[in-house]
Amino acid sequence: MNKIKKLISGLFLLLKKPSLINLLLDSEYRWETYLKKQHKNINQLPTVDIRNLIEATSSLNHFTFLGGGSLPTDIILLKSLANQIPNCRYFEIGTWRGESVINVSETAKECYTLNLSKEEILAEGLSDKYADLHGILSKGKENITHLFGNTLTYNFGKLNTKFDLIFVDGNHSYEFVKNDTKKVFEHLVHENSIVVWHDYAAHPEKIRYDVLAGILDGLPKGFQEKLYSVSNSLCAIYYPKGLRNTMLEFPINPNKIFEIQTKIKPI
Ligand SMILES: C[S@@+](CC[C@H](N)C(=O)[O-])C[C@H]1O[C@@H](n2cnc3c(N)ncnc32)[C@H](O)[C@@H]1O
Repeated sequence: MNKIKKLISGLFLLLKKPSLINLLLDSEYRWETYLKKQHKNINQLPTVDIRNLIEATSSLNHFTFLGGGSLPTDIILLKSLANQIPNCRYFEIGTWRGESVINVSETAKECYTLNLSKEEILAEGLSDKYADLHGILSKGKENITHLFGNTLTYNFGKLNTKFDLIFVDGNHSYEFVKNDTKKVFEHLVHENSIVVWHDYAAHPEKIRYDVLAGILDGLPKGFQEKLYSVSNSLCAIYYPKGLRNTMLEFPINPNKIFEIQTKIKPI
């Protein structure tokens, strides 16, 4: 199809369904252009080799390989970081099935996970079944506290406490990532806290520019120096002590192999 024909059929579709404009406004091109203008042409964060952050041997005891979750390496990253912090206090935005928090609860002392309430999920037009699956893996574990609310309005200040490790894994659109990042740094961090964001990348070789823009715009001034992406994962990390890093060249030439064993058990 030539360009004019494409333009006409695009305009026709837009007239029929005006909400399609959101696809354009949220396109990769839009956010790439935004980062060029607002953040000095940044198109990736410096990357830290995951081997500098996780233990040489790690395992996960709860992994569903279902939708809306993480890569095994994302959760191993969180579990390992929690293991390296004595009596780690973990806070998470975005519970979903509870896959990340149940794994981290094996190495952290105390875990808090915040999600939209059932009423808020239903109000978004999502199904009863979807709402009820929230926390299916994490409910009832003694060191996990489930909190309910929308991060846009939630009163983080009332928690009146700081956390050692924070995972931002709620709504991944720009406004929410920016809001969640801002609130985390305003209310939840102390000087040694580590913050991890999920979905910085759609896959380990494809950065999500909307999420990167949200992180950069929500982060307080001066913190960007210690902000990295983590190799072989979908995560970005704020690591206050600083880490050795490098810029990635795509496509990536693999420099390590992970050995994986699986064991299937009923829930
Ligand atoms: C990607 S999932 C989280 C995955 C989870 N960490 C795991 O490992 O299974 C995102 C979750 O964030 C929740 N969420 C989305 N927007 C939110 C908001 N504004 N405030 C609180 N929770 C939100 C959704 O209901 C969903 O359960």
